[in-house]
Amino acid sequence: MDRVLVTGGAGYIGSHACKALKAAGFLPVTFDSLVTGWRDAVRFGPFEEGDLLDRARLDQVFATHRPVAVMHFAALSQVGESMSDPGRYWRNNVAGSLTLIEAACAAGCMDFVFSSTCATYGDQDGVVLTEDSPQHPINAYGASKRAIEEMLRDFEVAHGLRHVIFRYFNVAGADPEAEVGEFHQPETHLIPLMLDAIDGRRAGLTIFGTDYDTPDGTCIRDYVHVMDLVEAHVLGLNWLRGGKGSRVFNLGTGHGFSVREVIAQSGAVTNREVPFTEGGRRAGDCTRLVSGSSRAEAELGWRPTRSTMGQMIADAWRWHQNGHYDR
Ligand code: UFG
Repeated sequence: MDRVLVTGGAGYIGSHACKALKAAGFLPVTFDSLVTGWRDAVRFGPFEEGDLLDRARLDQVFATHRPVAVMHFAALSQVGESMSDPGRYWRNNVAGSLTLIEAACAAGCMDFVFSSTCATYGDQDGVVLTEDSPQHPINAYGASKRAIEEMLRDFEVAHGLRHVIFRYFNVAGADPEAEVGEFHQPETHLIPLMLDAIDGRRAGLTIFGTDYDTPDGTCIRDYVHVMDLVEAHVLGLNWLRGGKGSRVFNLGTGHGFSVREVIAQSGAVTNREVPFTEGGRRAGDCTRLVSGSSRAEAELGWRPTRSTMGQMIADAWRWHQNGHYDR
């Protein structure tokens, strides 16, 4: 069975990717430092604990498993933290990715799927965001991901590293079988925070800013279900293994939801009150981020099936109620 090295395989998106890889006939090998990941999220293949900055450890893992490709999810991903501690993001995300990319090239593992973000586009209000839009990140998280994209291009020219870059919009939902799900410590994301507020695990939700230039004054985001998102990664892997060239794909649905709309739908799906208050803006937040591309559908044949807001909240709620990691 062909092995795929999945960095960050113990995290939210990486663990779902491991499940999708296994279902597609690959053996996912998780490489994770467990700084933000969970050991018991590694359920679908071998686990190798390690830090991306540890080149000797990476070389050992490549030699042991001889993966046919890398899926690189491991990263720090909190926009707010990246504004107050940018050094952590440049070191972990950028220097860590450099170490990984050099190790992959040295091992002759030349197919690379990279987890990037719409945060690389920055705040381009009113602009339709396609893969060809200019990238002007407004936070260190987005800047670190843009730098890694550039690194991949340079390594392709010099060493032939072929890559698919996925720029995610807002990932939400969970495995409908609740084997894995979303759990961050600390949690900063809207939907899990809201579900915590709904079932009383947290006092209430604060809306970060009600004076944005949007119809209801709150930020607009394009939410995509994590199961649909990881399905695109399997398609991206097969794209590379089929000999097709490096490519960038946005992963979003093209539909924007305001914070107030997400709150309203959560109340409807869970049939509970959502306790919330209105607060000030959060540093680093863009007004509106919505994908304007259907390249992934047209070229990869990606067909999102669970990315309605109701389904994402329902699946997240099921995981919230039934799933858990030992912590
Ligand atoms: N929000 C609130 N209250 C909260 C948490 C979030 O109002 O307690 C709002 C945010 O201001 C934002 C929206 O809900 O408008 C979504 O916020 P999230 O934190 O869930 O997601 P972000 O849009 O900030 O971030 C996500 C990913 C990042 C990625 C970014 C791209 O988590 O990794 O999308 O913008 F970089």
